[in-house]
Amino acid sequence: MAQKIFIDTDCGIDDAVAIMMALSSPEVEIAGISCVAGNTSLENVLNNVCGLLNFYKRTDIPVYRGCSTSMLRISHNADKIHGSNGLADVVLDTGGKTPEAINAAEGIFAAAKAYPGIKLITLGPLTNLAFAFNLYPELSELISEIVMMGGAVGPGNVTPWAEFNFFYDPEAAAFSLGTGVPVKILTWDATVAGFMPEEEFLRLDMNGTPAGDLFIEIQSFYLDFMENSTGSRKIGFPDPLTVACVIDPAIAIETENMSLCMILNRENEKRGASVVVSDSDGADGTADVILKCDMKRFSELAKRIKINSPK
Ligand code: BDR
Ligand code: CA
Repeated sequence: MAQKIFIDTDCGIDDAVAIMMALSSPEVEIAGISCVAGNTSLENVLNNVCGLLNFYKRTDIPVYRGCSTSMLRISHNADKIHGSNGLADVVLDTGGKTPEAINAAEGIFAAAKAYPGIKLITLGPLTNLAFAFNLYPELSELISEIVMMGGAVGPGNVTPWAEFNFFYDPEAAAFSLGTGVPVKILTWDATVAGFMPEEEFLRLDMNGTPAGDLFIEIQSFYLDFMENSTGSRKIGFPDPLTVACVIDPAIAIETENMSLCMILNRENEKRGASVVVSDSDGADGTADVILKCDMKRFSELAKRIKINSPK
């Protein structure tokens, strides 16, 4: 039977690819999607997710409105990487799909009660998750695993120490690491280790179906960003790798259990970093930290986006 999953997202380019991958994979069934500000504004995230579900003719999947800023109301966005609407400036028709009347925390709780043992996948800042667990501590008994994209053991992508999702809302990340639910983290390190050069990306041969074409269109925007910022055309798959590791856990080929502590001091240049500590007692939480993925195996999974495209 398919594993029930619930996705929390700040739907930018790679979030969209991650959701497309989940929608193309029979091993998982999405019970709901909650939206949070991060890569782009909450309104853009809601539109992107509703548009994507309409594209896939899966408007039956409930979408929930979540937090519009981090806990400390500090906002950053990633327009340069993800475009002005978060989705490479591609505007998808929502077909009238709108978010549910209840909010993200209520949506997460409703899904967890309906499907005990559900896995929660977070692809954005952890603000919604922290609110949900604060309001409904019984979630710890209902959710079997939290799989997060976030953090960096080595260099980050926003500062030399911090990765975007943890940097955006470090207080929420600290809270979310310590809910008592087993946590798995797909790090920025695993993303960098799996950077895919353009030649390899083109070899995926994704063109030719509606979803394959959309994949190419949004990822090309990211390729251009990478060329402008690093001088080389390569693609990182942080959120898709996170979902891929749930669909096929063998994709994670290097994982270490670590105790982590978030740096929260606002004067500290390392704010937002997740530091590995030796003493689990003083840590915000422990997690299975994925440092490297099997990119060949991942590529095979990604091809499902083209193969299992909606008509
Ligand atoms: C993470 O930050 C966002 O820009 C991406 O969507 C991903 O979730 C990578 O650091
Ligand atoms: Ca994301």
